[in-house]
Amino acid sequence: MEELKQKIEDVTNLDTLESVRVEIFGKKGILSAEFAKLKDVPPAEKKDFAKGLNDKKSALTEIFEAKKAELEKEAMNKQLESEKIDVTMYGYENKKGSLHPVMETMDKIIDYFATLNFSVETGPLVEDDFTNFEALNLPKNHPAREMQDTFFFKDGHLLRTHTSPVQIRTMLKQKPPIRMIAPGTVFRRDYDLTHTPMFHQVEGLVVGKKGEVSFANLKFILEDFLHYMFGDVDVRFRPSFFPFTEPSTEVDISCIFCEGEGCRVCSHTGWLEVLGSGVVDPNVFKAVGYEDVSGYAFGLGVERFAMLLHKIPDLRSLFEGDIRLLEQFR
Ligand code: PHE
Repeated sequence: MEELKQKIEDVTNLDTLESVRVEIFGKKGILSAEFAKLKDVPPAEKKDFAKGLNDKKSALTEIFEAKKAELEKEAMNKQLESEKIDVTMYGYENKKGSLHPVMETMDKIIDYFATLNFSVETGPLVEDDFTNFEALNLPKNHPAREMQDTFFFKDGHLLRTHTSPVQIRTMLKQKPPIRMIAPGTVFRRDYDLTHTPMFHQVEGLVVGKKGEVSFANLKFILEDFLHYMFGDVDVRFRPSFFPFTEPSTEVDISCIFCEGEGCRVCSHTGWLEVLGSGVVDPNVFKAVGYEDVSGYAFGLGVERFAMLLHKIPDLRSLFEGDIRLLEQFR
């Protein structure tokens, strides 16, 4: 009896308790075996023998139930402890989002000019013909309009093909001097490795009294800006044509892939074109009613800058939203 009691007391987990239960209380267990002896006990002693056994059984049952309750409680506490959640704790999977590489590049560009006190101007994406073309010295039927691959609406409005109309809008609502950039979305009918129908530009315009703002100022600031963006590169100005600037220049940097040696990206020229710029054409000032002023303007494609900075070979991948590409820019 004492031995059986001890056996139950010594159990430390529910699994062992179950085998002890079978061993003592089971159909083929110790107690059943003892009850089986009852039939061999002389009739006069049967009553006492049975009582003794029943007392033993209930005493053991009591100890067993107590042990069971104790171990169940223990198991429950253990489970609660292991499944406890601290709702005030930060998750380990704390995934952060990030700026899209185009927006990050745009911010970097804006930072440069904002530091130099340029204001940041915006304009509508749906423009009228006057602001997108006419006022920028691009009269109807001018062949240079062809360069722009415009999306037109039936009523004559259009999706702006560049950020230059923001120059016009700003000059129409402000007096000179002007020192502004206009970052924003633009649209052209074009789609290949280096063109998407929607892309981003940053425009710049500086206007002062006649003679105060010169090509030399333009050259200085763009060289400094390109060194800020690309580090130690060579910068060259190449004569070009834009209807709204005269003279006009395109700006190249020495190829950052081959350092000017010549490679596939720079078409073996050693140079990469990164900017359009020039001295503002007098016809533009006439269109907005400015007199006795001079100025310079420039425009750049943000995607092109992002591609060069991150060495992204296909522009279209910037707009596919593939999480595996974007995750690299965290
Ligand atoms: N608007 C021109 C373009 O989209 C870029 C540019 C802006 C050129 C300002 C000169 C001056 O191609």
